Amino acid sequence: MWLQALLLGLLAMEASAQAPPGFISIDCGLETNDSYRNQYNNLVYDTDASYIDTGVNQDVSPDTNLTGLHRYYSTLRSFPDGTRNCYTLGPVRKGGRYLVRAEFEYGNYDGRNAPPTFDVYLGVNLWQTVPPEDFSRLEIIAIAPSESIQVCLVAIGMGTPFISSLELRPLRDTMYTMANKTHSLVLYEDREDHGRNGSMRYPNDMFDRVWFGSSKRIGTPVSTDNDVLVEEGDLAMAPPLVFETAVKTNSTSQFLNFTVKGISGEKMLVFLYFAEIENIKGKQRREFSVYRNGNLISGPHNPKFLVGQTVIIPESGPGGTSNYTIQATANSTLPPIINGREVYKLVELKSLPTDEGDVNAVMKIKGSYGVKRNWIGDPCVPQNVSWEGLNCSYNDHQNPRITALNLSRSGISGIISPSIANLTALESLDLSGNNLTGEIPTDLAELLQLKVLNLENNQLSGVVPKILHEKSQNQTLQLRIDGNTNLCREGSCEARRKNKIIVPITVGIAASSVLVFLIAILISWRIRRRKKISLQETFCMKADIQSNKQQGSLNLESSQFTFAEIVIITENFQHQIGEGGFGKVYRGRLRNGIEVAVKLLSKASFQGEKEFQAEAQILTRVHHRNLVSFLGYCNEPDSFALVYEFMAHGNLAMHLSDKLNNDLSWSRRLRIAIEVAQGLEYLHIFCKPPIVHRDVKTANILLNLNLEAKLADFGMSKFFRDENSVYISTAIVGTPGYLDPEYCQTSKLTEKSDVYSFGIVLLELITGKPPITRGLEKSSTISWVQSNIQRGDITEIVDKRLGGKYDTNSIWKALEVALLCTMPNSTQRPSMSAVVTQLKDCLPYMTPQYTSSDFHDCEQSRVDVVPFISDIDTNPSAR
Ligand SMILES: *[C@@H]1O[C@H](CO)[C@@H](O)[C@H](O)[C@H]1NC(C)=O
Ligand SMILES: *[C@@H]1O[C@H](CO)[C@@H](O)[C@H](O)[C@H]1NC(C)=O
Ligand SMILES: *[C@@H]1O[C@H](CO)[C@@H](O)[C@H](O)[C@H]1NC(C)=O
Ligand SMILES: *[C@@H]1O[C@H](CO)[C@@H](O)[C@H](O)[C@H]1NC(C)=O
Ligand SMILES: *[C@@H]1O[C@H](CO)[C@@H](O)[C@H](O)[C@H]1NC(C)=O
Ligand SMILES: *[C@@H]1O[C@H](CO)[C@@H](O)[C@H](O)[C@H]1NC(C)=O
Ligand SMILES: *[C@@H]1O[C@H](CO)[C@@H](O)[C@H](O)[C@H]1NC(C)=O
Ligand SMILES: *[C@@H]1O[C@H](CO)[C@@H](O)[C@H](O)[C@H]1NC(C)=O
Ligand SMILES: *[C@@H]1O[C@H](CO)[C@@H](O)[C@H](O)[C@H]1NC(C)=O
Ligand SMILES: *[C@@H]1O[C@H](CO)[C@@H](O)[C@H](O)[C@H]1NC(C)=O
Repeated sequence: MWLQALLLGLLAMEASAQAPPGFISIDCGLETNDSYRNQYNNLVYDTDASYIDTGVNQDVSPDTNLTGLHRYYSTLRSFPDGTRNCYTLGPVRKGGRYLVRAEFEYGNYDGRNAPPTFDVYLGVNLWQTVPPEDFSRLEIIAIAPSESIQVCLVAIGMGTPFISSLELRPLRDTMYTMANKTHSLVLYEDREDHGRNGSMRYPNDMFDRVWFGSSKRIGTPVSTDNDVLVEEGDLAMAPPLVFETAVKTNSTSQFLNFTVKGISGEKMLVFLYFAEIENIKGKQRREFSVYRNGNLISGPHNPKFLVGQTVIIPESGPGGTSNYTIQATANSTLPPIINGREVYKLVELKSLPTDEGDVNAVMKIKGSYGVKRNWIGDPCVPQNVSWEGLNCSYNDHQNPRITALNLSRSGISGIISPSIANLTALESLDLSGNNLTGEIPTDLAELLQLKVLNLENNQLSGVVPKILHEKSQNQTLQLRIDGNTNLCREGSCEARRKNKIIVPITVGIAASSVLVFLIAILISWRIRRRKKISLQETFCMKADIQSNKQQGSLNLESSQFTFAEIVIITENFQHQIGEGGFGKVYRGRLRNGIEVAVKLLSKASFQGEKEFQAEAQILTRVHHRNLVSFLGYCNEPDSFALVYEFMAHGNLAMHLSDKLNNDLSWSRRLRIAIEVAQGLEYLHIFCKPPIVHRDVKTANILLNLNLEAKLADFGMSKFFRDENSVYISTAIVGTPGYLDPEYCQTSKLTEKSDVYSFGIVLLELITGKPPITRGLEKSSTISWVQSNIQRGDITEIVDKRLGGKYDTNSIWKALEVALLCTMPNSTQRPSMSAVVTQLKDCLPYMTPQYTSSDFHDCEQSRVDVVPFISDIDTNPSAR
């Protein structure tokens, strides 16, 4: 026998050179790099650093003599933070059967001499409360639910959880088959290797189960030097060494007695190992049966010589502590024998883990955002320690699903994780208030249950995927995307075009004969002045380079205000600054200090609430230097308000109608025209589909403190019944004098209608006259201008208030543009881009005296398109 032991020892050393595949041996709390070979099983034990990232390493008190036992008792990892902390063991084979062992030796590591009590879970199911009665080790046989197995320590308010060691051993599929997807086996008492002195484990037990020689002998030991065969496919594959020792009674009349402790209602499985290891001669016969509490429960058995036999006694009846006896049958000439014993508790896995697809996805999300929080263990189970920021649905007999993910204000950055689209049961996703960049993944539209998508206040860019936009429009999805300055809704915008479309001024060739004639005059006149024009062009090019980068990002939290907020903003409507067709206008101030104008409307003037809601959301994202910023709105049953950027100098109509005021010099007027043209150009070209203003008029052109012009009320006209506007049909909107005659006839609205109205505004700037002079006979400024040009009389046309202080060249050029814009046939009108280009040509060549007052703020008032897709060049796929 000593030879066998020696041989096994040598084998053990050879085998231990490399642990069997799948073995994981962890000494919890061990310093990194400090792996060592355990003298008891010759396996290498590693630090737990790569299996967990929470907890603190601790050493047991040196006063305890634990270090002499197992080295892994000398350190431990404790978990003062967080209710649940988990080790993730793996990789394991999903569906494979594993033995997991955990040990807990308190060793007074914290000097309090107060061992804690806490729960240990295997995955989502309670494994055992530590410390268990009578038993310091936890062992469980379970099926791996996925590619890893999690062991979680859960604090229950009775001290800080800790752990000393963790071991994972793969078993064969034919072993312990009572452990399946719905049940696992928890070891209930120390394994008995009857007849042996001391304990044994790997490599003697190839699965590293630990077997103890009987401390309390229940019979006389016997053993054999022969090898006992354990057949392949045996349900327990107890090691041959267990079978090679045994205990028996001194006579057939004596019983082998043992007690299995148990709690009533628990299901115990008792594994008994029998093998005949004595030479049975002649008529000798060993036969015995197993009785529980006096009742025959198994047998008779007569084990084969040197062949291991596993007898499993299932618990039935009331359970609880049972007295077992093994008794020889009447036929038996030899006393009963027993070689080994295991007792397991059969545990039903009542809690189902979170849906595996959800777990995989949320683990990737956790990884990519480095989420800390309490994101440990199963996301949804157990319910009381489920992950912060997740909501789950729990249905009997179904794996819980993640229905809500809230990572708002979590300081996360990077792109929206593509794994989110794999959370297929998601109903609500809140990623607001972070630093997320990139585009909104189209995949999110595949989340069929998604009802709320909040992406507000990030750095997202590109275009909202069409399908999400549609869902939000038909109310199947609540989509919130405010506070992403570079993001726009599908259909509301287009990337900035690099090349401006320049419509040649000679487009009017086919125009009506009068206009062709007029333009011919203007062109021939311009040719005479070519030298000067080329100088002007040089100036303009230079000016183009100095583009204004000031974006004035307002960073509103939301574009929707409550009425209570409106009251605060306007200081209870104290400062009225105007009264328009559909309500009063008040001055106010947002929390961030920005001055605003608040239009308080009567509901009667307002129509199409639903469309308005959608449209208003878009408009809050349309930003251009020459468009009055629409900052938001309030839409409550009895209160309706619009919040705009405050424009200190009121509207242009006011300035032009005031006969005494001549604060608008020609270059200022020209500049206003350019600014308005650029605002329109933006709406027409940089928004897709183009936004047609429909009501371009001097009353809708507002001037700020620096007299910079901004177009107001764009995109709104269709929602309001403005008393000053005229409705020729229900579809036609506009103001007399500015209304495109072609549009009136055809009802076909295009950007060219705005071009017409703009032409009228330009004429107004030149002449200082309203489009329709109300006198004895109604006459339009346009026909009056035409008749004057025919007479070649420019001084008659130009506003007298300019006092002759203007560049004739520039006035003529502007007139030419105005006439082109007001061509009766819309196809002959230039685009707003062409208008912008042409008007810039009109800027007078700056001599020192010219620059004095008008151009000192040249750079500041320099207008340029501020695209709301800022990363077009780097991100061409944004469209
Ligand atoms: C582990 O070993 C590496 C390489 O030997 C060394 O650089 C590192 O500092 C060690 N870490 C610890 C915690 O001892
Ligand atoms: C540790 O072992 C020593 C000697 O073996 C013994 O004197 C001492 O009482 C032991 N301490 C504890 C705490 O068991
Ligand atoms: C799982 O095991 C339990 C107990 O061993 C048994 O009652 C149950 O029928 C098994 N289920 C399956 C699906 O095999
Ligand atoms: C059985 O026999 C052995 C040795 O003969 C003796 O030590 C032991 O006490 C006996 N046991 C019983 C239960 O009689
Ligand atoms: C074994 O149990 C039987 C019946 O319960 C009892 O009569 C007997 O004395 C017990 N034997 C030993 C050795 O305890
Ligand atoms: C088991 O045996 C003990 C002592 O012999 C006895 O007190 C107890 O009642 C027995 N239990 C059962 C269930 O028979
Ligand atoms: C005793 O053994 C004989 C044959 O060996 C068998 O027929 C008989 O049923 C056995 N009796 C009992 C009580 O086991
Ligand atoms: C989503 O799940 C599928 C299969 O379930 C997987 O192949 C894919 O890689 C996952 N995508 C992401 C981004 O996690
Ligand atoms: C957001 O990310 C950008 C780029 O990484 C960084 O410059 C900025 O400081 C971040 N802002 C916040 C609030 O984290
Ligand atoms: C809403 O729009 C989406 C996307 O176009 C579509 O799939 C869905 O059926 C629509 N739902 C309703 C109620 O119209």
